[in-house]
Amino acid sequence: MTHARTRYSGPITEARAHPHSLVEQGFATDEALAAVLDRYPADLFDINLYDYDDEGQVSLRTGARGRLNGGELLEAIQQGRLWVNMREVETGWPELWAAAMAEFGKVQSAYPGLRAVRNAGQLILSSPKARVPYHFDAAGVVLFHMRGRKRVFVYPGDEAHLPERNMEQVVARQTTEELPYVLAFEQDAQVMDLEPGQALTWPVYAPHRVENLDRFCVSLSMDFQTWPSRFRNGALYTNAVLRSRGARPRMTDRMATPELAARWAASLALKRMGALKSRLEHFEREFEPEVGVADGAGALRA
Ligand SMILES: [Fe+2]
Repeated sequence: MTHARTRYSGPITEARAHPHSLVEQGFATDEALAAVLDRYPADLFDINLYDYDDEGQVSLRTGARGRLNGGELLEAIQQGRLWVNMREVETGWPELWAAAMAEFGKVQSAYPGLRAVRNAGQLILSSPKARVPYHFDAAGVVLFHMRGRKRVFVYPGDEAHLPERNMEQVVARQTTEELPYVLAFEQDAQVMDLEPGQALTWPVYAPHRVENLDRFCVSLSMDFQTWPSRFRNGALYTNAVLRSRGARPRMTDRMATPELAARWAASLALKRMGALKSRLEHFEREFEPEVGVADGAGALRA
């Protein structure tokens, strides 16, 4: 049986790596990373520690930025089991962002019909054994890999792997739990090993997860919206509102552009009205990075 790789109609039909030059431009050296860690705004950090059980189910602890200087924080990540996400690279590291946008232009031009209307980026520094759980992004993604090696698993975007109801919940920020995952999905994965200098992209909305291959890893994860993804996200939001009021909306992958556009327009009004309150949990910080302790996760200091 062949799986459609995605329920999305965009031009990217499977995961594929493209070359990029961010490594040669010097953005992933210890010196450059320690310097950017020193000056990056503390409120733009997410520091996560993931654990998995035998069924592949994840639990998450979140850390505070803490008080390590850039060099020490880099060392804690390199020794530990941390996943550090620095949001808004477009403001936090404009030089890297400008270089990455130039590279994005080349990737985009490989897909006739693909036109991003908004891009944003996260710089991800992660420990040699870090793993990111199964999830999807409500956006297109280009993962510019710059250091270390990682294995990316990309799954079909069909109802079995990416239930429309869960998409609605994530888009409407009604859950932090991303998508249901079972080990049996592994036989459906497209598996790609990424080396520095490769940028991986995959079909918009395709579920994925990442395992580092025993090396400290640096990647810039760039997400982007196109008009079709914007319409689709808006339609998913509107459907989440309708469903919360007892309706049973049609699946968005059965809708043509005019209906998606109408539901996107409705979503703008619904958001203005505050139709759904975000139910994202507020995670209590449980640790802060520390050098020379288990997992790189030390006790919180007041
Ligand atoms: Fe992702």
